[in-house]
Amino acid sequence: MRVTISDIQGFKERGEKFAALTAYDYVTAKLVDAAGIPIVLVGDSLGMVVLGYENTIPVRLDDVIYHTRAVVRGSSRALVVADMPFMTYQKSPEQALENAGRCIQEGGAQAVKLEGGIRVAGTIERLVASGIPVMAHIGLTPQSVHQLGGFKVQGKTSEAARRLVEDAIAVEEAGAFSVVLETVPADLARLITKGLAIPTIGIGAGADCDGEIQVVSDILGWFTDFLPKHTRRYANLAEAAGEAISSYAEDVKSRRFPTAENSYSIDDAIVSEIEDLLKKRR
Ligand code: KIV
Repeated sequence: MRVTISDIQGFKERGEKFAALTAYDYVTAKLVDAAGIPIVLVGDSLGMVVLGYENTIPVRLDDVIYHTRAVVRGSSRALVVADMPFMTYQKSPEQALENAGRCIQEGGAQAVKLEGGIRVAGTIERLVASGIPVMAHIGLTPQSVHQLGGFKVQGKTSEAARRLVEDAIAVEEAGAFSVVLETVPADLARLITKGLAIPTIGIGAGADCDGEIQVVSDILGWFTDFLPKHTRRYANLAEAAGEAISSYAEDVKSRRFPTAENSYSIDDAIVSEIEDLLKKRR
């Protein structure tokens, strides 16, 4: 039985802090699930950390659905949330409903995430009324990077802080089951967390959100193009993998691999027969 949105609400009610992580493939999803992490997000961060784009904007709905299917196959317990890519929900609530429906029906996700506050509240309402749980995402919303003028801390002025609070209230009132607060001052995140009935999930939002989410490739040291301030490396997988790949190449060149241990055998009689056959060809 998978974690449900009521279970996530239960964390807030009990004051129990929880971790969430992204995953994009079967193997990683298995590891995240086995660690007991209750929410796995198939983030559009896959554009950068899996597909090598500069930002999340080129990610397509089919990319998210494809990766969501793999994550669903790799997990049996976590609530799987599919991140709706840029321009798959902004046009109208009807467009959002159709595409969120694909994430649930084709991807197998149990919920979707979309970016924005007041401006997407009507869309959240439409999805929730149709039975699709929605995780909201406010603060630094990477799909709006061009409008925001870069990946900057949000809510720093009095006006911006008030806007962020209004966004948080709007998504809660629209029916979101949780809200990601990305790259906002810790004190502001703490106050929003206290003021909302739904769980906040921080990333670069200090220590006082109800939950914390990170990009799995960052915490594993697998994606190394840059390391955001808000993350921490718990492993250096890219370094270990680089060393393993070089050792493999050296072993092949120097004939240390493969060995008899990695090979399959046939009867000596067949070997002689084939040798004779090939000799006759010369
Ligand atoms: O795409 C993503 O990975 C995200 C998280 C950073 C919240 O939106």
